[in-house]
Amino acid sequence: MPKQSVTIVLPTFEEAESLPSLIAAIEVVRDDSMLDLSLLIVDDNSNDGTESLIEELAFPWISLIVRRNERGLSSAVLRGLQEVATEFCIIMDADGSHPPETIPATIQALQDGADFVVGSRYVKGGSTEDGWGALRWLNSKVATIMARPFTSVLDPMSGFLAFRHSILQNAADINPVGYKIGLELIVKCGCTNVTEVPIHFRTRQLGQSKLTLRVQWEYLQHVILLLRFTHPRLVSFFTFAAVGTTGAAVYIASLLAITRLITSPSASEVDVAIPWQAIALAIWIAMTWNFIWDRKYAFWFAKHQNVLFQYFGFVCICSVGAIANFYITSSLSVSESIPLAGLTGALLGSAIGIAFSYFVNRMLVFKR
Ligand code: GDD
Ligand code: MN
Repeated sequence: MPKQSVTIVLPTFEEAESLPSLIAAIEVVRDDSMLDLSLLIVDDNSNDGTESLIEELAFPWISLIVRRNERGLSSAVLRGLQEVATEFCIIMDADGSHPPETIPATIQALQDGADFVVGSRYVKGGSTEDGWGALRWLNSKVATIMARPFTSVLDPMSGFLAFRHSILQNAADINPVGYKIGLELIVKCGCTNVTEVPIHFRTRQLGQSKLTLRVQWEYLQHVILLLRFTHPRLVSFFTFAAVGTTGAAVYIASLLAITRLITSPSASEVDVAIPWQAIALAIWIAMTWNFIWDRKYAFWFAKHQNVLFQYFGFVCICSVGAIANFYITSSLSVSESIPLAGLTGALLGSAIGIAFSYFVNRMLVFKR
């Protein structure tokens, strides 16, 4: 039986020290298994001897791409995937955390019908080497929980992955930012049959982790982008409601500040009536505030349209929503048959006002 061809994409940044032992371990698997393994290293200009090391080894099954002007784990992986000519692909870390001995099991899982395989610390038989500080552990837990809306995989943060190259054909705009290329591929390629193969995750022996605070910040953004992809309507609506809440605070603050400015300083606190000009100006400020953030975050998909048209449409529709809110709140709050009439009125009025403004804006102004 001919050996099955498999390409391992190995992203590296300053891993020259770790590479020799990893390559030796992969070579053992190569000799002992039914797999024709080749290794494609994507290095981001480490300048630490990685290039000369690979040149000296001169193994026909190892190739190296050096990116001179780019940095980033996910984008390096995607760059490597562009070059892959085999149907089966593996992605793993170069620091020795991921055991090459598990590669045959991941390919077997694909042949058994999985459309994506994750080397997992959290399934039965998987483990993590001791020595993870409480902080890194907590970090990993929080990140894993944040991935829950997208997949039920127990270790969605894993960077040890196997899949068929052809799944990339169905992929919708893959995001090259950040560290979590596995999560990104599972979601964007629409993989439903994900299998987890247990691994023992070893602590790196040499070199340093590149997981910085910035990487964690990028992960947060990544999760929001994924949510927009999987639940666009929900994200859009809740963002609109959240912006509306900040808008209410902006309204009250503006109202107080403007009233202060335009009433004479000699007037005592009690007899300052709020002039209508202050109310009008505060409404306008709050609406403009809402517009800026809603256009950016709640209606992110409609940035290509004319901004003046959007602004006027938004102001008109929100004015109707605000008037509806005002009348519902004031008429309900005087009712004697409704319990907690004031609060009920305010909540119902706001809810109806926000829902009206949102849906009419979506239908008429911010179209996809
Ligand atoms: N080309 C390239 N460019 N490679 C990079 C870059 C980069 O900017 N940043 C990191 N790498 C490579 C590293 O050289 C290593 O081979 C691999 O990506 C993982 O980087 P580490 O710095 O070792 O990351 P980690 O151990 O903190 O994170 C790993 O474990 C996590 C789970 O705890 C990764 O596998 C993560 O994907 C995984 O979520
Ligand atoms: Mn590592």
